[in-house]
Amino acid sequence: MNSFSQLDLFGGPQFPPDREKATTQRQERRSGTFTDNMRLPIHRWFRYSAGFSAEWVEQAIKDFPSARPPVVLDPFAGSGTTLLAAEKAGAVVYGYESHPFVSRIAAAKLLWHLDEQRVLHAAMSLLGRAKASKPRVPEQLPDLLAKCFTPATIERLLALRDCYIEIRQETDEWRLVWLAITAILRSCSHVGTAQWQYVLPNKRKAAFLDPFHAFEAKISEMISDMDFAKRIGFHQTATMFSHDAREPAPIAEHSIDLVLTSPPYPNNYDYADATRLEMTFWGEIASWGDLQLTIRRFIIRSCSQHTAAERLHLEDLLEDVTLAPIQAELTEVCNQLATIRMTKGGKKTYHTMVAAYFVDMAKILMQLRVACKPGARLCFVVGDSAPYGIYVPADLWLGRLAVATGFDSFSFEKVRDRNVKWKNRKHRVPLHEGRLWIKG
Ligand SMILES: C[S@@+](CC[C@H](N)C(=O)[O-])C[C@H]1O[C@@H](n2cnc3c(N)ncnc32)[C@H](O)[C@@H]1O
Repeated sequence: MNSFSQLDLFGGPQFPPDREKATTQRQERRSGTFTDNMRLPIHRWFRYSAGFSAEWVEQAIKDFPSARPPVVLDPFAGSGTTLLAAEKAGAVVYGYESHPFVSRIAAAKLLWHLDEQRVLHAAMSLLGRAKASKPRVPEQLPDLLAKCFTPATIERLLALRDCYIEIRQETDEWRLVWLAITAILRSCSHVGTAQWQYVLPNKRKAAFLDPFHAFEAKISEMISDMDFAKRIGFHQTATMFSHDAREPAPIAEHSIDLVLTSPPYPNNYDYADATRLEMTFWGEIASWGDLQLTIRRFIIRSCSQHTAAERLHLEDLLEDVTLAPIQAELTEVCNQLATIRMTKGGKKTYHTMVAAYFVDMAKILMQLRVACKPGARLCFVVGDSAPYGIYVPADLWLGRLAVATGFDSFSFEKVRDRNVKWKNRKHRVPLHEGRLWIKG
């Protein structure tokens, strides 16, 4: 049975200004999740993990105690939630993202101001060509693509991809067309891809989309959102840098009033793996093994695959002088992890992951001290973790590192508990997630 489900062509939901206003008025003052963003124009173009809600960002900008909107920075910009929310609020905003593929996605979303008709024209010329093209599926289809798509689906997806490569131009309109193709991949897959960013080839979805219909519907959604953003007066105030936040900043010193961000947590989530399907589809990686060189080396070390590949030595990491304010406790935790791993089958390198995570975050806090004005406010939406059941108080340690870097003070506002339902958990350590506020 064909389980494609089809979408209404050009009949996607609209966001009239009055509904948007009502939503904003009802805004809850919480950091929310990226799921909240999937009902918001532009934010919904690409689903990305572990963000926060755009509405919370807007509120935090409005709450900033100054007559003029604050100058905002998100050093872990991901898919661009902070940048788009700041553009809506009329604040100048900068974003860094060092995952090259994710940075391209955020940069494309910031192109909402382009002429809709030109985007539509590029997209429809591509679709017409793809529909007319002869099906060509290579014999050596990467394993991941063969697992994720039925033969009929991959044929159409590859037609879109190959025609895109043949006729694209180096223009912004075509960057949006690239985003539309990239954004439909998971909804066209019959295996487990949604919600959780990793691919679960053994899970089956009840319904999945036909690529040509999905592409047309995505373009329709984008056109309608672009029109909406212009009508409600989004401002072109964002600058996105494909930049590693550990390195010296590409912006002026002491220029930032407000940092709103959500860094990776020290919880073994692999941001490189999160875009493996998309990068394999575009031919940017051939296998899981390519992720280290193409992605992980540019991002902070928050997963054990990363530190295992770098073959790090715990003693060298712990000697880093920037860790001084947390050195004793960090050493104890890492030594426990080094011992426990020898009793585990997987022998995961959580000991070097945790140490390297704080070395990297200390570097970033130093860069933020240089970029921020005296008296700036910073909010990190962050969570703690417990690899192998050993507790890592991420918010507390990041707060202490921030003060050692020259900020005045920190406080933590818990937003939610995690890991409190014990079923199916690897450990029973209660965890939390919330806002680490840093001032100074
Ligand atoms: C929790 S996500 C941020 C999600 C974002 N708030 C959004 O709404 O899409 C953390 C991001 O930090 C990025 N990242 C990790 N290390 C980085 C670094 N050294 N410099 C810049 N970005 C980095 C990751 O690639 C990931 O996209």
